[in-house]
Amino acid sequence: MSSQPVVASPLYPMPVASPAGQEDLISAADLSPEEAASLLEFAQHLKAHPAEYRHALAGKQMAMFFEKPSLRTRLTFEAGMASMGGMAFFVDQTQSRLGVRESLKDVAKNLERWVDVLVLRTFDHATVTGIAEHASIPVINALTDLEHPCQALADFMTLKEHFGSLKGLTLAYVGDGNNMAHSLMLAGAALGVNLKVATPAQYAPQHFVVAQAQLIGEETGAAIEVMTDPVAAMVGADAVYTDAWASMGQEQESAARAKVFQPYQVNVQLMACAAPHAVFMHCLPAHRGEEVTDEVIDSAQSVVFDQAENRLHIQKAILAQLLCGATTKIPVRSARA
Ligand code: CP
Repeated sequence: MSSQPVVASPLYPMPVASPAGQEDLISAADLSPEEAASLLEFAQHLKAHPAEYRHALAGKQMAMFFEKPSLRTRLTFEAGMASMGGMAFFVDQTQSRLGVRESLKDVAKNLERWVDVLVLRTFDHATVTGIAEHASIPVINALTDLEHPCQALADFMTLKEHFGSLKGLTLAYVGDGNNMAHSLMLAGAALGVNLKVATPAQYAPQHFVVAQAQLIGEETGAAIEVMTDPVAAMVGADAVYTDAWASMGQEQESAARAKVFQPYQVNVQLMACAAPHAVFMHCLPAHRGEEVTDEVIDSAQSVVFDQAENRLHIQKAILAQLLCGATTKIPVRSARA
């Protein structure tokens, strides 16, 4: 496939063409600390200078397969691709999981003949790694049960905008030790942000992800702590983050989870335990009155719609980087785990 010439930015020169890469973004840990920082800078540049990239992805085509519903992720990938001259094709995969009708390998071997990049939202993380293993085109994780890296990167972009710098900030995550917690720990560790993750003991983040984040943190100086006390997590926190107590696919557990998670609700009392300047964060959709109260999510401390806005800019940066090799490379590291 041919690549159109792109407009070069003085800060972020983009090559005229790059081969369809075998690089993916499947885990937040796929980015080295330097690559994560560079991606955020590039996304901020894209946000400030969108016109420079109007034709950056002309001729490029993206296919999206979503096994779960989406508002933000779908629209920001589609709008981001269109805003850079590319095209997006959405496949509603909510009625049947990928790999059921035909093997993941056969799906991958078809798709790589037609389009330039795949964006997948699946239940099983292994579905995304399985497609990536066989596809010669980039694969982007748009949420699996294990990780949500694009969201976490947009979240740290939001914190960088708000505080000016990320190094040494502390983010308290309270609630379910889910995909969001995992990607925040991995991306936060890479970016030098301390993480305090407070969950009920039976809903703690997976040990191997915590260990991986702590290893990255040893390199960057970020402390990654897991605990059960939500108040302890708040001490000195610059940002307070929560997510749904029952994620997509766990709806039948909602009532049982609501009881266990009640002490982790981010309300005015819990928020007051964080630093006075702390911001409130949520990936959305929010379940008002459950994991967060209206008073908090609608307060001046809330940056939830800044996070949502930055989904667009971080997706654009990821797409431009994977399809044109802009600014830095996203390597395959832990992607095939
Ligand atoms: N935060 C997030 O991924 O939103 P959607 O589920 O609407 O895409």
